[in-house]
Amino acid sequence: MKVLHVAAEIFPLVKTGGLADVLGALPQALIAQGADVRLLLPGLPAIVDAVVHQKIVCQIGPAFGAARVTLLLGRMPYSHVPVYVIDAAYLYRREGSPYQDSEGHEWPDNVQRFALLGWVAAHLAAGELDAEWTPEVLHAHDWHAAMGCAYVAAHPPTRAATVFTVHNLAYQGLFPSGDFNLLGLPSRFMATTGLEFHGQLSFMKAGLKFARRVTTVSPTYAREIATPEFGFGLDGVVRGRGADVSGVLNGVDGAVWNPAADSGLAQRYSAGEPVGKLRCKEALQRELGLQVRADALLVGVVSRLTSQKGLDLMLAALPGLRKRGGQLALQGAGEPALEAAFLAVAKAHAGQVAVRIGYDEGLAHRLIAGADAIVVPSRFEPCGLTQLYGLRYGTVPVVRRVGGLADTVVDANETNEQADRATGFVFDAATPAALDGALSRAAAAFTDTARWQRLMQRAMAQDFSWEGAATRYHALYESTLARSSG
Ligand code: ADP
Ligand code: GLC
Repeated sequence: MKVLHVAAEIFPLVKTGGLADVLGALPQALIAQGADVRLLLPGLPAIVDAVVHQKIVCQIGPAFGAARVTLLLGRMPYSHVPVYVIDAAYLYRREGSPYQDSEGHEWPDNVQRFALLGWVAAHLAAGELDAEWTPEVLHAHDWHAAMGCAYVAAHPPTRAATVFTVHNLAYQGLFPSGDFNLLGLPSRFMATTGLEFHGQLSFMKAGLKFARRVTTVSPTYAREIATPEFGFGLDGVVRGRGADVSGVLNGVDGAVWNPAADSGLAQRYSAGEPVGKLRCKEALQRELGLQVRADALLVGVVSRLTSQKGLDLMLAALPGLRKRGGQLALQGAGEPALEAAFLAVAKAHAGQVAVRIGYDEGLAHRLIAGADAIVVPSRFEPCGLTQLYGLRYGTVPVVRRVGGLADTVVDANETNEQADRATGFVFDAATPAALDGALSRAAAAFTDTARWQRLMQRAMAQDFSWEGAATRYHALYESTLARSSG
């Protein structure tokens, strides 16, 4: 089966969050199961510079404001997954994030930058750009790639089945309605049955309306986005798709996240030989200037600092953690007010609270390995990957019961502990008191070494591999194709 994955990020080249981790792993897992998978990515500098064995597939000519657009085909470094790259220097060759300039302002021409990504996807799927390879499935990720589904719908001879995955409904790709003229779509697409969303133009809606199947990254989030609380105004559209919406839980890339093979750690370890984790904790405490104490519960956070992630709750729950003798190590970047607040508590409580602002892949690994527990108190969480990395590293998750967090962590209440299935601490309300309650239960469990060891062992025994997710996507592709040919 030929499958084209379309996205704006891919680990290790361009990453602002978990989306990149998914694109770095899922295609390989599908290939391992026999699928013929290629990627389509925008020609951001980090991508054009790193893709190997590049050759020109075709000149697309001027499009979406760019004088020259060229389609290249090469291979991803390391994984060698085949990748089409849209080389359009005017639109993509810029320093900064894929979505914003270095000052954090959205690129003013994002409508054209991501319309082009979808347009190329749809024309590849129509067999018009590469005579040698035409995908049967076009799998678009998040709003950045969603226009591919609308362009396929506008181009009826295209046989490819479209699948759209929502990684985060909060980011929708909204533009002024006047920008619709830049898209080259028939005017019927700018209706409430199409891309129109409260007087604006929504790329997210293009995916939700026009993809044959819609998935999200956990079963619980698939149900949640059909409700006003989590739907960001699109819950009606989601409900309208009925059974076409489903959830496929993300996995962990064991080639990147594996404590037994992680070369960046002070000492590697595994469930069978867990002592190395103590060395990692000690090394992390030293690195971050925390008191070197094995008996202090070291709580870690690796996160974007946005209201989604609920880290204001962590700030408010910090006095309780400190009073019980616990420590916090936080690595993150995002909203300036949250960054400043965390830096201020770290300054006031050096030795017990350490905060590193910025993005650092190596430190993320050392932190997740060295911490005893990882906290993810999100207000909403489509899947969440750091709690999965925590499980793999024997770092017990403390999470809110929401989205993928609810699907991946089993609370250490008495029943679950007796049934030998508890893997972490789960709380319900998005309040500091509820988080504090979960942290205090974790602290109590931590003082009981045998109990904590059992939790760690169970956490490390969980299997959230990409293999299972790839099998599910494969089945979804087959049923979508069967439906369209039937
Ligand atoms: P989201 O995609 O919503 O940010 P996920 O939990 O799915 O949340 O994925 C976050 C990814 O980004 C993980 O791989 C995590 O380790 C990484 N990450 C988040 N913040 C940082 C940071 N400051 N430095 C390094 N990695 C980070
Ligand atoms: C989004 C979500 C996160 C998810 C990631 C990968 O960024 O916020 O929960 O894990 O996508 O699917």
